[in-house]
Amino acid sequence: MPQEFEQMTDSKIQSNDFTQSRYPRNSTGGGAILAESVEMVINSKQQRLQILKEIDWEIQKGDIEILMGPSGSGKTTLLSILAGLLTPTAGSVYLLGQEITRMSRTELAWFRRHHIGFIFQDFNLFPALTAIENIEAALNVKGIRGKSARKEAQALLEQVGLGDKAKQLPRDLSGGQKQRVAIARALTGRPQVIMADEPTAALDSHSGHLVMELLRGLAKEQGCTVLIVTHDPRILDLADRVAYMEDGVLKY
Ligand SMILES: Nc1ncnc2c1ncn2[C@@H]1O[C@H](COP(=O)(O)OP(=O)(O)OP(=O)(O)O)[C@@H](O)[C@H]1O
Ligand SMILES: [Mg+2]
Repeated sequence: MPQEFEQMTDSKIQSNDFTQSRYPRNSTGGGAILAESVEMVINSKQQRLQILKEIDWEIQKGDIEILMGPSGSGKTTLLSILAGLLTPTAGSVYLLGQEITRMSRTELAWFRRHHIGFIFQDFNLFPALTAIENIEAALNVKGIRGKSARKEAQALLEQVGLGDKAKQLPRDLSGGQKQRVAIARALTGRPQVIMADEPTAALDSHSGHLVMELLRGLAKEQGCTVLIVTHDPRILDLADRVAYMEDGVLKY
């Protein structure tokens, strides 16, 4: 079960045929998340599509940063690159002072598993596992097993207001409930960096508020760095900073 889960998450790692970064690799990596001259270009037979243009961005430890922008502007692409799920065409990414764009696949998988909690736009839950098993599987790959995994998984479900849904399969949960299971799963193993793609999109205002308070608590009490892509104006007040993406250009 854990192995399947690992394969599922690792299948999200993509690489491309493009060259490695042409930029110097001597950054000290000051912030918790640092992007230097990140670009993403996709070449098809018909056209050359520049999805991200020269992105330089630094997010400090313990901050909650929100990234907004129109549909198709490149937000998910940038988030995937910052989380090491996608390799940029050019540029460097440092997380917690380490250059993830130089890591091997194995190093990166280990680093991601131990330091990054990622909440996917499409939840990416394992359909054959119940809510609690989805979280336990994530704990298992982080080395937490048996009764302690079950106890921690239940506690995480309760934190997101789903203590009574532990035994339900994803197909029997609403969109907002699935989203909260995905959030609970991203919090397993206490990651230092949490990245979330539209984490409140399927949530009513009460659940959205609960999730944001939870993320804010992790940032302010435990020093987690939280990066959230959202269209949801209700959560802007909880951010330390807001950045905007338009046509692959980042403004902040
Ligand atoms: N593998 C790919 N091949 C071709 N085009 C792609 C690929 N991945 C992304 N794109 C294009 O890149 C652009 C940015 O996509 P991305 O998913 O990052 O947007 P987004 O800002 O997250 O949008 P949304 O708010 O709708 O989620 C889009 O025009 C998309 O069609
Ligand atoms: Mg997106």
